[in-house]
Formats: sequence, structure tokens, C-alpha cells
Amino acid sequence: MLSRTGNGLRILTPTLILRHHSFSARSVSNTPIGTKMDNKRKRVYITRPDVASVGIELLKSDWTQALPVPREELLNQVVGKDAIFCALTDKIDAEVIECAGPQLKCIATISVGYEHIDLKECKKRGIRVGYTPDVLTDATAELTVALLLATSRRLLEANKEVYNGGWKSWAPNWMCGRGLKGARVGLLGFGRIGQEIAARLVPFKPSLLTYTTRTERAAEAAKVNAKYVSFDEMLCESDFIIACCALTPETKEIFNAAAFAKMKSNAIFVNTARGGNVDQPALYAALKEKRILAAGLDVTTPEPLPLDEPLLKLNNVVILPHIGSADVNTRTEMSRITALNILAGLNGKEMVSEVTL
Ligand code: NAP
Ligand code: GLV
Repeated sequence: MLSRTGNGLRILTPTLILRHHSFSARSVSNTPIGTKMDNKRKRVYITRPDVASVGIELLKSDWTQALPVPREELLNQVVGKDAIFCALTDKIDAEVIECAGPQLKCIATISVGYEHIDLKECKKRGIRVGYTPDVLTDATAELTVALLLATSRRLLEANKEVYNGGWKSWAPNWMCGRGLKGARVGLLGFGRIGQEIAARLVPFKPSLLTYTTRTERAAEAAKVNAKYVSFDEMLCESDFIIACCALTPETKEIFNAAAFAKMKSNAIFVNTARGGNVDQPALYAALKEKRILAAGLDVTTPEPLPLDEPLLKLNNVVILPHIGSADVNTRTEMSRITALNILAGLNGKEMVSEVTL
């Protein structure tokens, strides 16, 4: 089924009918073909097709679209569904939940972050929420270190010079960056990903690893010899500052003008948490005025960034398109777990990973 969106045609996403809440799913287009709905069958609306096939295989579907579902279509498609398989690109707020209707039992997001889901509304209505922690921890930690190195050793800037004729000869002071050896590294967030980032940084021989959270994690910190410090101390003392915390009302734009003003002039800021953790115009000003040295961002506001975004004009910033967990095996596992979470939600069983409401 086709509908016109903007200038192009898009194929409407299919609803999927699960027989008896089980795997023997029947894939159908928007209208069930040769199948009668009965009250044992559950309908699942999957908002995105671009997840690894294992999860979709579990639910049996035939996808065609590869972009976030437009709001209006989301609101239409959730009507009457028992479960929603969503991504961090979908705002699952009270309006969506209300549109779905009272039969909605569970929402499963193919992400560890779940700030795009209105948890209060889910709790109020007894809707269970699944997510995908742990399986993406290593991939995201690895990407964070890659981004940190790309930023601090100026890999993208240097690479451009190879292609634009700027590489004239080896030169003693050309393209020098800042290495990790002997540096002080501070992490905002010391959860699953923060701890794995710290473990990966130890072999680079920083002089000190510090972390800031609401709760001190002494046992976990001891494994990497990390020190618990206040946010201010981390800002003032670190050569590298890594945001790897959850996005909550308390951490929203926690990296603001005041925070950047406290950082050292040689500080390198890396964000693989959420764009919302940063006051982006303030970051731009700090980078432009060279109040900090550089930034590496896997997450921004908005996503994708418009091509006229001022940050794109700076050469002391490396920006990636939110690819923290984009490792093939990781995304496969995230897809599988999201599907399993839905099946568990529909069947009243324990989810692989469920958000505590
Ligand atoms: P996690 O284990 O729940 O860790 C979250 C950390 O944030 C905890 O250490 C928590 O510490 C800290 N935190 C929360 N509120 C805080 C506050 N007000 N002040 C200081 N620290 C605070 O989650 P995770 O698995 O490590 O994932 C972290 C985040 O990374 C996700 O929420 C997501 O936004 C992001 N992420 C991004 C990508 C990507 O592709 N770039 C991939 C995966 C995840 P306390 O609770 O002790 O305060
Ligand atoms: C990615 O950003 C996630 O939250 O899984």
C-alpha cells in the first residue's frame, strides 16, 4: 500500500499478526490476508524496518521503509495494537499511547536509552517497557574510544589533507594532537558503558581516571583505579571529558556555557550519551572561541544535523551520525532482544530486559 509523503511515495509499514502470541507469526500487509482476527492473535506494529533481521524474523514481517515513521503515520498505525517495537527515533508519548488504545500491553525499544518513551504514562496504564542494555555496551564503549582518538589525534582533519593537497611533506609540528598518555580523563556517567570505556582507556596510560555519578561506585571504580569526584572537579581538572550518562531532567544540557567555562583550554569533550545532554550553541561558542580544544560528538541536537549547522564549519570537532552501537552483531542482538521483550510482554513472561517503572 502506498501513500504520498512530501514529494515522494512511501510504502506503509505492515501490521503483523501473531498467532496465539507465539513465534508462528503471520506476515500480512495492512489488511490481514486469509486470516481471521480472533482474540488470541496479537497485532504488533513495528515502527522501523532497519534493524537486523533476527528480531523481525521472530515476528515475521515484510518491511520496506528505512526512515523514522512520520508522526501522523505513527499515530494512525498504533491504533488497536497490542505491542509497539520502536526505536529512539520514535517519540512514544501520551498521545501515541492514547491512540493505540487500552489493549496496548507493551512497548519495546531497540535501544538502551528510553527517554523517548513516556514512562509515567506507561506506568499509569500498566504497559510494560522493554529495552536493550548490556548487549550494546562493548560496541558503544569501543566507538567512544575511537571517537576520542579521532578527535584528539585529529584523524579526520589529517585525512582531508591527504585528499585536498594540503599534505606537502612530513613536518615536525604539523597535525599534532594530544595523546592520552599522562592525561586526566573524566567521565560523566559510570554505568555499563562508562565502566567499559574506562577499562578500554587504562592501556593508554592516562595519569588519572575520574568519574561523576549520583551514587559512588567504589567496587567498579577499583577495577580501573578510577576516582569519584564532583562534576565541578571533573570539569576543572580533566584533559578529556566524556559524557556517557543517561539523559534525564537533571542531566539535560548539563554541559552548558558554565560547564565549558570551567574546562581547561586544552580540554577535549566527547559525547556518546545524548545530544540533549549538551547546550549545543554553548558548545559551538566554546569551540569557536577556542576556550576548549576540540569535541567529538556521536550524538547531537537535532539528529540528523542540518547541513547549515554551525558546528559543521569548525575543524576542531568530529561528528558521527549516532553510530555508538552500530556493530553488526550488536544490532542483531538488539533486534532479537527487542522481539523477545515483545513476546514476553504479550505472554505475561519475564522480559530479557525490562525498564522498572
Ligand atoms: P547506565 O548503566 O544506566 O548508566 C547511566 C549512568 O548515568 C550511570 O552511571 C548513572 O549514575 C549516570 N547518571 C544518571 N543520572 C545522573 C546524574 N544526574 N548525574 C550524574 N550521573 C548520572 O546506562 P548505559 O548502558 O551506560 O548507557 C548510558 C547512556 O548512553 C544511555 O542512556 C544512552 O543515552 C547512551 N547511549 C548512546 C549510544 C550511542 O549510540 N551513542 C549507545 C548506547 C547508549 P547514577 O545512577 O549512579 O547517578
Ligand atoms: C543508543 O543511543 C541507545 O540508546 O541504544
